[in-house]
Amino acid sequence: MATNITFHPGAVTLEERSEFIGQKGATVWFTGLSASGKSTIATALEQHLLHKGLHSFRLDGDNIRFGLNKDLGFDPNSRVENIRRIGEVSLLFASSCSLALTAFISPYISDRDLARDLHNKAGLPFIEVFVDAPLAVVESRDPKGLYKKARAGEIKEFTGISAPYEAPVKPEIHIKTDEVDVEGAVAIVTQYLIDNEIIK
Ligand code: PPS
Repeated sequence: MATNITFHPGAVTLEERSEFIGQKGATVWFTGLSASGKSTIATALEQHLLHKGLHSFRLDGDNIRFGLNKDLGFDPNSRVENIRRIGEVSLLFASSCSLALTAFISPYISDRDLARDLHNKAGLPFIEVFVDAPLAVVESRDPKGLYKKARAGEIKEFTGISAPYEAPVKPEIHIKTDEVDVEGAVAIVTQYLIDNEIIK
């Protein structure tokens, strides 16, 4: 824990930056089981926003664990720290007037709420998107073969099998990916951003 540190506020306000860049910052926080469709939707949304002339940046669980969070595993404390860091990183992106698109299982309500509080305090929108698919569905998709390994006991503490997932109680957006395709999901999130005057 660092001591004797001082926070240096900048001379550029959020409003000034937003006006200069020509868009507002926000974090779109996708949460859901492995293989629920978080990364797929976030990837398609990033491309869609780019085509609309908007800057966004995807922070994806698997990818971030190759770099920034490569020191973390999947035990409860590591997951808490994983999401704490991503809450902070997404805040930085949103503060720079980009749209941060995070795709992490983020299994604990309290951790997602911490990320939300950070954004609330900074006056930045935090949009929690529950990417919802029943366990039976994600298990049948099993694109990486991880559920099979988890069932065989080859992966410990696997979310949905041997580790908990706390579903959002009141997410801003709820997408059932066994009912809505990727294009539909992108349209739902985009419409939310328009309706809430985050993008035009
Ligand atoms: S968490 O719970 O938010 O810290 O997880 P996250 O950083 O999003 O990483 C999830 C991806 O890691 C792979 N993986 C596991 N997931 C869950 N439990 C265990 N034990 C595990 N081990 C590896 C898995 O590919 C997840 O990717 P997604 O994209 O969610 O399918």
